[in-house]
Amino acid sequence: MSVHKEVKKITTHVLQEMKMKGEKIAMLTGYDFSMAKILDQAGIDIILVGDSASNVMAGHETTLPITLDQMIYHASSVVRAVNRALVVVDLPFGSYQGDSKQALTSSIRIMKESGGHAVKLEGGQEIVESIRRILSAGIPVMGHLGLTPQSIYKFGTYTVRAKEKDEAAQLIADAKLLEETGCFAIVLEKIPAKLAQEVASSIDIPVIGIGAGNGVDGQVLVSHDMLGINNEFNPRFLRKYHNLYEEMLTSFESYIKDVRSSDFPNDKEQY
Ligand code: KIV
Repeated sequence: MSVHKEVKKITTHVLQEMKMKGEKIAMLTGYDFSMAKILDQAGIDIILVGDSASNVMAGHETTLPITLDQMIYHASSVVRAVNRALVVVDLPFGSYQGDSKQALTSSIRIMKESGGHAVKLEGGQEIVESIRRILSAGIPVMGHLGLTPQSIYKFGTYTVRAKEKDEAAQLIADAKLLEETGCFAIVLEKIPAKLAQEVASSIDIPVIGIGAGNGVDGQVLVSHDMLGINNEFNPRFLRKYHNLYEEMLTSFESYIKDVRSSDFPNDKEQY
């Protein structure tokens, strides 16, 4: 008799069932093997290999500079660590906006070279043709509406989106269109909670919010932000579960002190 317990893997169908049953979906970002292993063991449902890697891992001011090759590198590191979670990979800026053929080629590269399970791309009606083409290759697609950071130079600021009637109406129409087109879920970033709730209750696919209130089907945060590794990012929507910046800083300082004072290594820490 095998003592191995079968892990129930999270698929897009499982996520759909969760929405139907009213079970909330927990999603966090992951960009490397070690963090992804902990996330998976903790029981996270979705790991997003977000293009926020451009900020968090590479120190860029925006998500625009990260390349498709770099996203594939991060995603393949995450995939190697995961047993249960669904791994969704962001299509980076410039890898899908050209035309639907480019969107498909980039998505195929992500699936083939990283082993990721799905792709995410930003936008509504303007990218529907690309979504159709990606889906036609059997690749699951997650949408992303509201504050879409790849368009930051169009918006001009990272403030809350869709506060005005027209933009809110467009967002609802886009969400319905993404569902009709075949997206398995949608991320809504930084929009009023009431609007996000309206979207979540008017479509049947899961809606995952970030800065979009509690009336949606799940939540996503950037792992480094919720761990408090980044002490310079403190938006209202962020709940910090730790202050790792301070803890890491004091650990590094202690190590430096121990090395300089010849306290490390001691007799037991050598061969
Ligand atoms: O890249 C990212 O981390 C994201 C989340 C903020 C949703 O897209």
